[in-house]
Amino acid sequence: MTGRIVKPDAAGIAEAVELLRAESVVAFPTETVYGLGADAFSARAIGEVYRLKNRPSWNPLIVHVADVSAARQLAASWPGAADRLAAAFWPGPLTMVVRRAAHLTRVGADNDTIAVRIPAHDVALRLLAAVGLPLAAPSANRSESISPTTAEHVLRSLPDVPLVLDGGPSSWGIESTVLDLTTPVPTLLRPGALGLRALRDVTGTIAVRDAETADGAARPSPGMSRRHYAPRATLQLVPDVRSIEIPEKTGILTYEGAELPDAEVLSADPREYAADLYAALHRLDDSGVETILVQAPPPTEDWLAIRDRLSRAAAG
Ligand code: TXA
Ligand code: MG
Repeated sequence: MTGRIVKPDAAGIAEAVELLRAESVVAFPTETVYGLGADAFSARAIGEVYRLKNRPSWNPLIVHVADVSAARQLAASWPGAADRLAAAFWPGPLTMVVRRAAHLTRVGADNDTIAVRIPAHDVALRLLAAVGLPLAAPSANRSESISPTTAEHVLRSLPDVPLVLDGGPSSWGIESTVLDLTTPVPTLLRPGALGLRALRDVTGTIAVRDAETADGAARPSPGMSRRHYAPRATLQLVPDVRSIEIPEKTGILTYEGAELPDAEVLSADPREYAADLYAALHRLDDSGVETILVQAPPPTEDWLAIRDRLSRAAAG
């Protein structure tokens, strides 16, 4: 059985709602990447998410809600920082980790916290309003592979998802920033679309565990295993793609200012680069190359989330 891609009109949303209420799963667009959605209260639907993604059971899911009051209902306590961050950035690409409400069954891993966000995408918000349930939704790809930024990417990675609502390409193209609010100082668990500077303007200091460390380092977010976001081809980061000899069956991913003939050239602006990154990796992978050489991005904070994803994709 293969899934269908449908327009997110009233009929498409109604079909998605019916599947979700029947404890099945539906892929839907968000501003970051496409999510594989399930009723957050249904053990059966959550189990289906883990099965389809081949996701390890210790890795918990993000829950998507329609508004702040729905988020608060999932939380045992709602810190002042959560209110300020929600006012500043929701709907948007910020996921907050708070203490989980005691009555709630676990959404994946067995811990006492929950990760929540309100997505800034019209289709996701209409779906959440219509279904009237919080939706647990990890990125709609096989565990460890490249996240989907189009409906087609979803079915290529997960052909058995029954329904994909097509919202066009995701505008951010990189996952949300995950911030832990259960620590004395808010702690960055996963760098993402929302930059640290914007967060600090609201919360003050943010603890950043060494998000770019390699093997053996403490895992910041349970899902941040070293190898993640990986294409089929072997990915290598290089300081200057123009200074090396390019072997056979090799694709090149670079950005403006370091162009090469036959390379995928992305923007030198990190926001635009992020929006195109996963689609470019999908294209390079589909071209059948064995190796992808990637021009290493600048070492600045604006490129933190991109460097994080690339170094994980490169980890062997
Ligand atoms: O942009 C996004 O966040 C996308 C869209 C669909 O919303 N979702 C997404 O989900 O990237 P996923 O499952 O691929 O990544 C969720 C991350 C993982 O690193 C997971 O370990 C972490 O969030 N996470 C989830 N619940 C957590 C919790 N209670 N405590 C700490 N980290 C948590
Ligand atoms: Mg993911």
